[in-house]
Amino acid sequence: MFRIGMEEIEEITKVINSKQLFKVNSGELRESENLEAEMREKFGVPYTLMMTSGHAALTSALIGMGVGPGDQVIIPAYTYIATAIAVVAAGAIPVIAQIDESLTIDPDDIERKITKATKAIIPVHIQGFPCAMDKIMAIAKKHGLLVLEDACQGDGGSFKGQRLATIGDAGAFSFNYYKIISAGEGGALLTKNREIFERALIYHDSSAVAFFGTQLDGVTTEPFCGQEFRTNEITSAILRCQLKKLDPILADLRANKKYVMDALADDCAFIKSNDIEGDCGTTIGIMFGTAAEADRFAEAMNAPGSIPGKTKKHIYADWASIMNKRGAFHPAMDPFKMEANKDIIPNYTKDMCKASLDILCRVCYIGVNPDWTKAEMDAEIAKIKAALKA
Ligand SMILES: Cc1ncc(COP(=O)(O)O)c(C=O)c1O
Repeated sequence: MFRIGMEEIEEITKVINSKQLFKVNSGELRESENLEAEMREKFGVPYTLMMTSGHAALTSALIGMGVGPGDQVIIPAYTYIATAIAVVAAGAIPVIAQIDESLTIDPDDIERKITKATKAIIPVHIQGFPCAMDKIMAIAKKHGLLVLEDACQGDGGSFKGQRLATIGDAGAFSFNYYKIISAGEGGALLTKNREIFERALIYHDSSAVAFFGTQLDGVTTEPFCGQEFRTNEITSAILRCQLKKLDPILADLRANKKYVMDALADDCAFIKSNDIEGDCGTTIGIMFGTAAEADRFAEAMNAPGSIPGKTKKHIYADWASIMNKRGAFHPAMDPFKMEANKDIIPNYTKDMCKASLDILCRVCYIGVNPDWTKAEMDAEIAKIKAALKA
């Protein structure tokens, strides 16, 4: 979260004074309804659904796509575990593909991982680094697969001029505390597909959607049991303010990232970018020749958590519940034990994506702040240059 303050406080105050905190209401503010409309307008998609989290949006999108038992979904070796958990929540099986030196999913490895059971691909725009969406969409088209963009770390970014989360069949944003814009928690699903929207609408709020307001007007999908992932008016009021701040934050992040990278151009190598213009600018990735060099740099920077291969959260080898195939508490609900999945479960091993681990342990991140002054950036550059010589 980068910028939050008086604007949000004023809008929340209005919501509390209105006493209309439920998403579906007949008051004047209608924060959630307006937010969904503003998201549609900003991102140029006909359907948006605000939800409690990015995970909720990913899971609802997969259900909307008809993903379930008997299906494999290809995800990258480097992402937050929530991506993999969403696949399992839909009853399907995650298949883990390598990343390349952009730190995003390797399109060549997607092709190698496709089987008869593959139904969808989830490219993850990790750290706001755009995936190679042109190649991924071409592969999906060739093999008849669906694409769900996990843009939970890439709010507002783009690939070749098109906003992330609007290129595939559906996309998901997260607005949790660590994201570019935030309400503490929150998520959004974006899609151009009416069928995906209707099913996700019912799944994400399967009790209230039928009984409150006119949400089911014009919906032809028969109601079915799902979850309770609906948002609320306070979260939506915050996010309406945050949405207005998104592009200015991105512009400052990108300018600051460029300033620092330009100053370091002769001192180090950087990770590859699939589209530096569309990159969200939150993170600079310095690429080293060996893991030992990355370790030395991280130590000199006094930033032990800056090596992406060592965060203990974001690489497949650390996803204990997935690696140990514990897909649910009740065995009958566990996709890893379901008859429909019995022939499509890969053998997950800690070293199955060694090439990805090698890349991730040779990279060091520098976090970018959109509010850095020039003096602060110059001090950061001097610190990095000194650490590179250490
Ligand atoms: C890549 C990625 N996917 C999904 C999620 C899930 O988002 P949330 O925490 O809003 O459920 C996150 C959250 O950090 C994430 O980083």
